[in-house]
Amino acid sequence: MSSRAPDKHLRQLADGNQIPQLGLGVWQIPNGPMCVKAVRWALELGYRHIDTAQAYGNEESVGRALKESGVPRDEVFITTKFWPGSRDPVAEAERSLERLGIDFVDLYLIHWPQGGPTWAWPGMEQARANGYTRSIGVSNFDVRELDEVIATAAVAPVVDQVQFSPFEYRRKLLDGAGERAIAVEAYSPLGTGRHLGNRAVQRLAARVGRTPAQVLLRWCVQQNTIVIPKSTHRDRIEENSRIFDFTLSAEDMAELDALDETGATDRALEEKWW
Ligand code: A2P
Repeated sequence: MSSRAPDKHLRQLADGNQIPQLGLGVWQIPNGPMCVKAVRWALELGYRHIDTAQAYGNEESVGRALKESGVPRDEVFITTKFWPGSRDPVAEAERSLERLGIDFVDLYLIHWPQGGPTWAWPGMEQARANGYTRSIGVSNFDVRELDEVIATAAVAPVVDQVQFSPFEYRRKLLDGAGERAIAVEAYSPLGTGRHLGNRAVQRLAARVGRTPAQVLLRWCVQQNTIVIPKSTHRDRIEENSRIFDFTLSAEDMAELDALDETGATDRALEEKWW
């Protein structure tokens, strides 16, 4: 059934480009065979969105998997992120494209606002103008930091990728991004695995006849975010893609909303790591 297929669920970004609502995240997968396999499995299973970053060190494996898969380049949405410990988003984009073995990425994000939220943005705009990326955005930016970028931008960010799950609900950030036509992407939607063991999540999953992972991911979808779970196991990558053939009720959603531990914050992070 096509409506179940992950590649059929697209979201339009404010710049007119379309992004599949589900992607495979490859944070913490080492460069090499494990990463190549995970990405190939995802593409076989119908994923059409892969999320990597310069800081992950595995762009080369993502590129290899894409090539080996035989899936046409224009059918796959590829995101990478500028590592802000470096100075030049344009030069670093060129290096990313070389490692990925492609001519452009679909989305290029500032990975975090190290050194302030605005200094790298002109370089991001230049990377887009050069055709190195179709869309540009940010990651780990608070609402206040989004406003700083927007105030100086010629081209506004269309995405803010943040840690997001029922436990990190960040409702004011989600609402604030929405008001600014910025789509939220949810990273660590499973809490890097630890939310899967939560009793309330497990009870709800049993009640709706789904797995805890599917419930957490479906919650993200119904919050209108783009979601990028990570797994290196084929069966889990498949399980995580089966989230478009059921709906959580308003009561289910409210039960999950209530797990928020951020106080509905507009902050992207509880603590900085840089
Ligand atoms: P693994 O990669 O060994 O399959 P997040 O997306 O929040 O970062 O969570 C990723 C973590 O959750 C990884 O440790 C991953 O393990 C695990 N994981 C991903 N999907 C599932 C699943 N469907 N069931 C159980 N664990 C999962």
